[in-house]
Amino acid sequence: HRGDALERDLADRHVVVSAGGTREALDPVRFLGNASSGRQGFALAAVAAARGARVTLVAANAELPDPAGVDVVRVVSAVELRDAVHRAAADADVVVMAAAVADFRPADTAAHKIKKDGTAPAPVPLTENPDVLAELVAARRPGAVLVGFAAETGDDTATVLDHGRAKLARKGCDLLVVNAVGPGMAFGQPDNAGVILGRDGSERVLERAPKHVLAAAVWDAAGALLAKSHP
Ligand code: CTP
Ligand code: CA
Repeated sequence: HRGDALERDLADRHVVVSAGGTREALDPVRFLGNASSGRQGFALAAVAAARGARVTLVAANAELPDPAGVDVVRVVSAVELRDAVHRAAADADVVVMAAAVADFRPADTAAHKIKKDGTAPAPVPLTENPDVLAELVAARRPGAVLVGFAAETGDDTATVLDHGRAKLARKGCDLLVVNAVGPGMAFGQPDNAGVILGRDGSERVLERAPKHVLAAAVWDAAGALLAKSHP
């Protein structure tokens, strides 16, 4: 049975997982953030450790305890997360980017708490954050497996899956786990559902289940790619 903790199919592998949501400081006490709880990434780290991997978990603002047997690096911002992921990824067999990384950050962080003064608030200029997954793809080492996550809502022009397929092609990673998000779905929930899209065109549907079940399916897919590239 795949996912069984006794099956140490990831032994001798180093895997890196990012989790949680980054915070981009506006001033010493305020930030732009997102609703990611970190649960899916922590489940990925815990399952990989149970399957024998050496695991580095880069955790952004997740209020969750360190999973057993996992090396946890706590970060706050996208830039900190990027540095920690690149450091850990130098010798990694698999990197799973489950973190919700802010696309933009305030161009400047105020040194002191921003005060209201009775006039209209000033707009907050933003600047783009580095795309960590894109950087990993660009610097890819032969045989390393790169996994992205995409939380999508459908819209007038495309479904969740359409967006996912386009994102996989654009990002150039090996696997993209696509989750539908919305009220009561994915963020902060104990359960998750989705589809694992492969660069080879494969699509594996994951029914709604606890996040560790989804994590096991992700490691099954990543492990299969690793077995091909690095038997
Ligand atoms: N990601 C990243 N660095 C960023 C933004 C995203 O590494 N600055 C990673 C995420 O961790 C995720 C994947 O890229 O694994 C897809 O993130 P997503 O936000 O869905 O894709 P974007 O390319 O940012 O596209 P958009 O937000 O416009 O849909
Ligand atoms: Ca994004």
